[in-house]
Amino acid sequence: MNDKARVVSGMRPTGPLHIGHLVGALRNWTTLQERYDCFYFVADWNALASDYASTGGITGYALDNVSDWIAAGVDPERSTIFVQSLVPEHAELFLLLSMVVPIPWLERVPTYKEQQAQLTEKDLSTLGFLGYPLLQTADVAMYDGRFVPVGDDQVPHLELSREVVRRFNQFYGEVLVEPQPLLTPVSRLPGLDNRKMSKSYGNTIDLLDDSAAVTKKVRQMYTDPKRIRADIPGTVEGNPVFIYHDAFNPNVEEVDDLKARYRTGTVGDVEVKKKLITALTAALEPLRERRERLAQPARVREILHEGSKKARVVAEQTMDRVRQMYTDPKRVRADIPGTVEGNPVFIYHDAFNPNRDEVEDLKARYRAGKVGDVEVKMKLAAAINALLAPIRERREAALARPGQLREMAVEGSRRARAKAQETMVRVREAVNLRY
Ligand code: TRP
Repeated sequence: MNDKARVVSGMRPTGPLHIGHLVGALRNWTTLQERYDCFYFVADWNALASDYASTGGITGYALDNVSDWIAAGVDPERSTIFVQSLVPEHAELFLLLSMVVPIPWLERVPTYKEQQAQLTEKDLSTLGFLGYPLLQTADVAMYDGRFVPVGDDQVPHLELSREVVRRFNQFYGEVLVEPQPLLTPVSRLPGLDNRKMSKSYGNTIDLLDDSAAVTKKVRQMYTDPKRIRADIPGTVEGNPVFIYHDAFNPNVEEVDDLKARYRTGTVGDVEVKKKLITALTAALEPLRERRERLAQPARVREILHEGSKKARVVAEQTMDRVRQMYTDPKRVRADIPGTVEGNPVFIYHDAFNPNRDEVEDLKARYRAGKVGDVEVKMKLAAAINALLAPIRERREAALARPGQLREMAVEGSRRARAKAQETMVRVREAVNLRY
């Protein structure tokens, strides 16, 4: 691997990709490859969270979506492209995270209640749906993902991820990395009808659309509804036709000219749309070319299996680290180098063994596979016993004189009570409960 910071992101395979995905995710994913070690994956288990009752489309969309990723410029040579369910370690980490996450944390993620209210035709009262953002946490933490390119709707999920990672680390040491969202620079594209672009509204331009389909769809596009004739001044802001021009027409002069003439009522919708059709077709053409050249279904399958194998190697390293919450379980023989960090036996040595030289010597030999667990543990037992010996002695002595013990307790409680009464005077005054 390399030492660039890691970027992790995923997409659920729930339908064909459209130009909203290109602008909202894929262009960003492609650019990030230059600066980061990117892991991009098909979140097929996450898709099950809402689509568990009809799973027939998922694998088909997965292959189809990934061919669009590659068509858009995601490069399997530079990025690791994989499938979540082919790296079952995600499920194991999810399980371990589920032990530490309080259920109310999941219940108050806004998408949880929102989606349940919106998707009423589905029963989303499942554990899997509640745990969706926790699975997402495992997805990212698995690869030490520092940055997660997502749209703003995903920010609460990442916030949960950060909190869960922090809590996990509090229990087990600095095992997992806290991820940060990397917001996609371009705001969301509206659909053809100016509602949110979505397959379910039938208002998308798909990455697979040919130029005839693009032409037909752009001709039907919503523009400024107040502008019933070409010589009426129109509004550019928030007008989907111009939002698309801004996103896809590289000829800024042409776009500025169209906007100026639109505002003054000196250009017709037909010309504006015609130029948009040209720009969009030109923008989608290289995708078509790359898809045909680089993303045949058999090749995509191969990329996904190879990528998942690579992802799995990294996932196994993370899970090794996570599983070491116990002693070092990989160390089945004394001559295998062991891990000192996060190993409870050494954490105890650090806490209880005053003989620093001995501890450092044991650590060095443990790391080098030159000391057995038995010696390390015997020395730990000796250190803890040395520490407990005087405590045991004092306890014996105290128990031998019960009267004195009782007197001490009474005297201590009297002093504590004097202080407590002072405090309660202040507290009662403060809460204003005085009779
Ligand atoms: N929740 C994301 C979405 O719907 C998909 C996703 C799943 C994801 N796991 C992820 C995104 C991990 C980023 C990182 O778009």
